[in-house]
Amino acid sequence: MKKKWWHDSVVYQVYPRSFKDSNNDGIGDLNGIISKLDYLKELGIDVIWLSPVYKSPNVDNGYDISDYCDIMDEFGTLDDMKTLIDEATKRDIKIIMDLVVNHTSDEHIWFKEARKSKKNKYRDFYIWRDAVNGSIPNDLKSNFGGSAWTLDTETNQYYLHLHDKRQPDLNWENPELRKEIYNMMKFWLDLGIKGFRMDVIDLIGKEPDKLITQNGPKLHDYIQEMNRETFGKYDVLTVGETWGATPEIGKLYSDPKRNELSMVFQFEVISLDKQQGKRKWDLAPLDFIAFKESFRKWQVELYEDGWNSLFGNNHDLPRMVSRWGNDKEYRVESAKMLATMLHMQKGTPYIYQGEEIGMTNVKFPSIEYYNDIEGLNMYNERISLGYSEDEVMKSLYAKGRDNARTPMQWDSSENGGFSTKKPWLMVNDNYTDINVERDIKAPWSIFAYYQKLIRLRKSEEVIKYGKFELLLKDHREAFVYTRSYNGENLFVVCNFYGNNISIDLSELKDILGLGDNSELSLNEDVLIANYSNSPKLTNKLALRPYETIVYKYNNLANFNIK
Ligand code: GLC
Ligand code: CA
Repeated sequence: MKKKWWHDSVVYQVYPRSFKDSNNDGIGDLNGIISKLDYLKELGIDVIWLSPVYKSPNVDNGYDISDYCDIMDEFGTLDDMKTLIDEATKRDIKIIMDLVVNHTSDEHIWFKEARKSKKNKYRDFYIWRDAVNGSIPNDLKSNFGGSAWTLDTETNQYYLHLHDKRQPDLNWENPELRKEIYNMMKFWLDLGIKGFRMDVIDLIGKEPDKLITQNGPKLHDYIQEMNRETFGKYDVLTVGETWGATPEIGKLYSDPKRNELSMVFQFEVISLDKQQGKRKWDLAPLDFIAFKESFRKWQVELYEDGWNSLFGNNHDLPRMVSRWGNDKEYRVESAKMLATMLHMQKGTPYIYQGEEIGMTNVKFPSIEYYNDIEGLNMYNERISLGYSEDEVMKSLYAKGRDNARTPMQWDSSENGGFSTKKPWLMVNDNYTDINVERDIKAPWSIFAYYQKLIRLRKSEEVIKYGKFELLLKDHREAFVYTRSYNGENLFVVCNFYGNNISIDLSELKDILGLGDNSELSLNEDVLIANYSNSPKLTNKLALRPYETIVYKYNNLANFNIK
């Protein structure tokens, strides 16, 4: 595989509205991000994925764009954006932009024009259908609940929106539309951005009349064309948000020979704690065996001709430590264990703001405190269907997107140092305990641990390129895997739960290349661990709650068989 700069990069996602407010109006902004670049440098990240900063009426917090070539008023100006790119570049940090081209805002000039008349030049930039038997054209559903069709009374046709009705879907069949999008992408590339995160990209090939939304027949043609016309000429990172990808599809996007994207961002493990066939709000316990198997499958199948993203949370997902760890008595241990589990795999790690200090989910007292359109729609829909308030709030607490969107906790001053004014979304009230100022001072902090994980990726080829093997796949509590590359090996163990466990490694002697019944005592190097006094790697390995250890060994000669 040809080496690329992003093979050992770590990406940090900034959700600008919640990162840092520089002018104290309660809303994060570009100058706020600029003021924290040194912090990000200290953490050690290479790339910032900036959630949308374009002009937007904020129905979906920027994922509804009304002007692709200008900046949202609350966030600053295009000049501020240029300064951000410059200041980041000075620190050797690259900026990638969120590219939201499956849909626009209904306030985009194209849509305002398009809805004026069937003859309008922009009409065909969107997807319009006549009523069928006096009602919606078909049963397509919006990802945010309800029908995907809304009647526009002006011209008496329905338009398609796979998200909120104020986010009309663009018609990628139209070459004029595609040309406009490519020009816009070039505009940003020429300003010095270093890539794109492509929002719900797997929807652009939709065929609504056949009820096909994800992975439509022309999807990969469009992406190849986009590559040819825009970023293929630049040395940049492109990552596709691909909810509907299998490993096979993941390779279509990310096999370098196909000239599509650098990598996929897929959600298979994210969908494992819901009831089968139902929505994310229909909670179910995590199937840990399936969870490990999913990681294995993606690691193995994309080993040679594809590239993965490694993440546990983002602006759409609950906080990883609350979801898969224990955000109470083992918050620190479990946050580090989860980070290790991800960062020791092959792919590009994505850290979502606040993850590096172990920020947690939030439980606001009632629905009035919530902001996110998806959560609010779900609340209204379910209450009207007769679900109890308790049940609906339980789903929101577990899966609501506002969990990830509470303001970044910088210090223990009012509003967590995010702003002196009441923020647009309430700060999690644990900010006096969990904040950057505190973490950065403590040598054994989650922040320090992430710094080390990031450094290790740069120094260890085996982390970048090693082959992955899952061990003890049926073990109900331990996540154990190896990586191997050019005679170097990693042995990664994670206790995924809050009790002491003992794992029997004797059955792994073949895999580890050991003789019969030998006590393994390895001349090991512990690369990183979340407890002090890591145990020796022996036949029986006792692990404390959420303990994780990464052993490195060069070759089998390092084993002392007693
Ligand atoms: C993506 C974004 C999400 C947004 C949706 C519609 O899933 O990550 O935040 O609501 O697309 O643009
Ligand atoms: Ca502000």
